[in-house]
Amino acid sequence: MRKAFPKRGADWPALETEMNQMSGDDIDWRRGRAPLYVFHGSDSAHEVGRQAFMKYFSENALGGRRAFFGLKRMEDEVVEMGLDLFQAPDGAVGNLSTGGSESIFMAVKACRDWARAQPRLHEPFNIVAPFSAHAAFNKAADVMDLDVRRLDTGTGRRADVAAMAAAIDDGTIMLAGSAPCFPHGVIDPITELGALALERDIWLHVDACVGGYVAPFFQRLGRDIPGFDFAVPGVRTISADLHKFGFCPKPASTLFYRFAGDRERGLFHFDQWPNGQFSTATLSGTRAGGAVAAAWAVMHHLGVDGYTAIAGELAAMTDGYVAGIKAIDGLHMLAEPDLTIINFAARKPAELDIFAVAEAMGQRGWLPGLTQNPKGMHAMLSMFHAPGREEYLADLASCVEQARGANSTSGLRAVY
Ligand SMILES: Cc1ncc(COP(=O)(O)O)c(C=O)c1O
Repeated sequence: MRKAFPKRGADWPALETEMNQMSGDDIDWRRGRAPLYVFHGSDSAHEVGRQAFMKYFSENALGGRRAFFGLKRMEDEVVEMGLDLFQAPDGAVGNLSTGGSESIFMAVKACRDWARAQPRLHEPFNIVAPFSAHAAFNKAADVMDLDVRRLDTGTGRRADVAAMAAAIDDGTIMLAGSAPCFPHGVIDPITELGALALERDIWLHVDACVGGYVAPFFQRLGRDIPGFDFAVPGVRTISADLHKFGFCPKPASTLFYRFAGDRERGLFHFDQWPNGQFSTATLSGTRAGGAVAAAWAVMHHLGVDGYTAIAGELAAMTDGYVAGIKAIDGLHMLAEPDLTIINFAARKPAELDIFAVAEAMGQRGWLPGLTQNPKGMHAMLSMFHAPGREEYLADLASCVEQARGANSTSGLRAVY
């Protein structure tokens, strides 16, 4: 039955009780049972983010220029800190957005508008990407009537640069690479993609949505992390989400442009309506002021030292998960993770259905992350996943035995 609009109002205590009841069956994400959607760096970063968000709860970042000058300054500083982190050259610019999908959308829009001004490029336009690129590229392409050519990945499930080069034609406007890709957690060969982009004069977008705010700190730890930022020639735009491994509250992402002129193409200006000039760098008009303030506060709270310390904990934890999974008879990693995303599968799929293992894990309260091609299990690990590691690995080992013993198969489908 359809819910009726309430006749009388209710006070907060009653509403909170009802909300708690509604969420009573939720996945226990605070105890690391969710393999995606939520992120945790440290308790203090969480608290600083929450306080800052609530302080600017009512402000609207759309009004930063005309009304909320403090917020505008915070937004500018968040962008500048990101440009610094990603080794951007002088003249590079950026802006905040409400998420990775929006950042990718705006990068594709800027690229599409650049492409329209290039006589050598002919519509219909296309984007050449590895199969592992995020679905957001297709979402953007769908809206803008572009094609996305997804090509099988190569060694280590990283982008196959030769295959991508072969797929380029006179409609190709963008090459996409990830740092890392969501499905397998590996960083594409951005240096090679950059060289290809320069050679063919094509826009290279690096999707560092999930890894952008953690990879530089893994590098500082001395881990072998391939270059992916503006230090790599040919990288033209980078998307990086603060609301993932930047440990900032949602919704907050950043998009950076090597050339200020490119950002101009991403902007939307309009004044043929009663209220005059309307200009935005995002799809959204109204944007949560709290998210801007919280990003500024969390970045200042953690600083390079804080992010590096968390990266150290994340790296040790991920190593522990990987070692534990490799020790389970019948499982193997589908890729060696560069950062904190793990993707593993049955060594012999004919003898063990990994989705049956996932289903059994689900029955024990672990929301299973899945990849469908190749068939595997998946998790994006943040500090929520540290305390439950032993329990997860013990349950995983026992679910493998259970699935193998029962010779069970599963009808599960991978859902993001
Ligand atoms: C590599 C990558 N790109 C883009 C996105 C999309 O980000 P959002 O969900 O914030 O739109 C994600 C989300 O996980 C991602 O992992």
